[in-house]
Amino acid sequence: MKICVLGLGYIGLPTACLFANANHKVVGVDLNQELVEKLNKKELPFEEKGLADLFARAMSNMVFETEVGDADVFVIAVPTPLDKELKMADLKHVRTAAEMIYPHLSIDNLVITESTVPPGTCDRLLVPILEKSGLKASKEFSLAHCPERAIPGNSIYEMVHNDRIIGGIDSKSTEKAKSVYSSFVKGNLYLTDAITAEFVKLMENTYRDINIALANEFAQIAEECGVNVWAAIALANKHPRVNILKPGPGVGGHCIAIDPWFLTENTTRCRIVSLAREINEGMPNHTLRIVKSMLEDVSNPVIKVLGVAYKGGVEDIRETPALKLIKLAENEGYSVKVHDPYVKTFEYMILGLKEAVKDSDCIVLITDHPEFKELDPKEISYLMRNKNVVVQGIC
Ligand SMILES: NC(=O)c1ccc[n+]([C@@H]2O[C@H](COP(=O)([O-])OP(=O)(O)OC[C@H]3O[C@@H](n4cnc5c(N)ncnc54)[C@H](O)[C@@H]3O)[C@@H](O)[C@H]2O)c1
Repeated sequence: MKICVLGLGYIGLPTACLFANANHKVVGVDLNQELVEKLNKKELPFEEKGLADLFARAMSNMVFETEVGDADVFVIAVPTPLDKELKMADLKHVRTAAEMIYPHLSIDNLVITESTVPPGTCDRLLVPILEKSGLKASKEFSLAHCPERAIPGNSIYEMVHNDRIIGGIDSKSTEKAKSVYSSFVKGNLYLTDAITAEFVKLMENTYRDINIALANEFAQIAEECGVNVWAAIALANKHPRVNILKPGPGVGGHCIAIDPWFLTENTTRCRIVSLAREINEGMPNHTLRIVKSMLEDVSNPVIKVLGVAYKGGVEDIRETPALKLIKLAENEGYSVKVHDPYVKTFEYMILGLKEAVKDSDCIVLITDHPEFKELDPKEISYLMRNKNVVVQGIC
């Protein structure tokens, strides 16, 4: 089959490579011309375990363009950011992608959206745009949602081995999408309808957000009670039906911090969901409160933030709680220095470890990068002006 993948980011590029390695002819389309040129020069835009090898093997079946052409299957993997003011999905990229596809849509084509979207998007937003082709949805073309569950850092393994949910606007669409994914997925393919697939993806991340919020609330209560929350959680998790997650500096990344708002944008029944968001979004403020209590007597305090990626072992800084912490600290008059062994570009200059630690009054560890677990405090503590450490990102 000829498969056109729109959006060549963290999800679209590995997905395109997996299709190409499964012997489909793949056209990767991205509006970012620089990115397309880079990919055509066989250069990768980001690091991901196993991607370089997969990409090299896919090249004979894959080309990159900035415009859509004819294909049998169109896969939409464009960003769906949060409109932060309105707390709802900004679907402009999905809309544009559908507008790019419909002039090339032919009878029996299949359109799949992998982008995370609010419930009802396939039926309410995509069908009317795609029908501008003159073709009727269900009768003349198929449409399905296949949400992505892969985790950055291990996404290629997970794209192949995770179970997937596939939901079409009708059973023919579902079956066609199933056969496309069967070409490389080794996990189970669970079939449903489009709106349920959209809903399931959002429920999964909302579930995780709420459970992280619970762990964060436990951590704050434990602090007030003088209890070591890590020890308490480890003991509570000895219960056969309890699995409390790890508290941390807040929630980042492109999914968990955003998707709960997609679930709730059309409903008033979202008390626990919004409360969880509020707790997790407040964690940088809580971290700063701890830092302030340590540095009460220090004038012109300098803090060093260790790790700005939103999670350990990756360079992804999207929605990272580190950014809010840094901005809050600056508003308090603190100087902030930043070190992260993975992140190359960030709103603040990334310094070397020792340069960042030098003359600082407090190290605030935000990201559980594996390198930090190996750090010997003696190797850097002599560089500090005052020896304080707040560990928010490691168990
Ligand atoms: N990254 C993840 O871990 C993850 C996990 C699960 C689901 N998702 C979802 O997958 C979708 C894609 O996320 P991502 O992380 O790959 O995004 P990304 O920002 O890494 O990449 C998206 C790419 O799409 C391109 N683009 C934008 N509009 C386009 C258009 N109309 N046509 C062609 N290209 C276009 C952008 O230039 C960019 O290169 C989002 O809906 C996201 O919520 C992401």
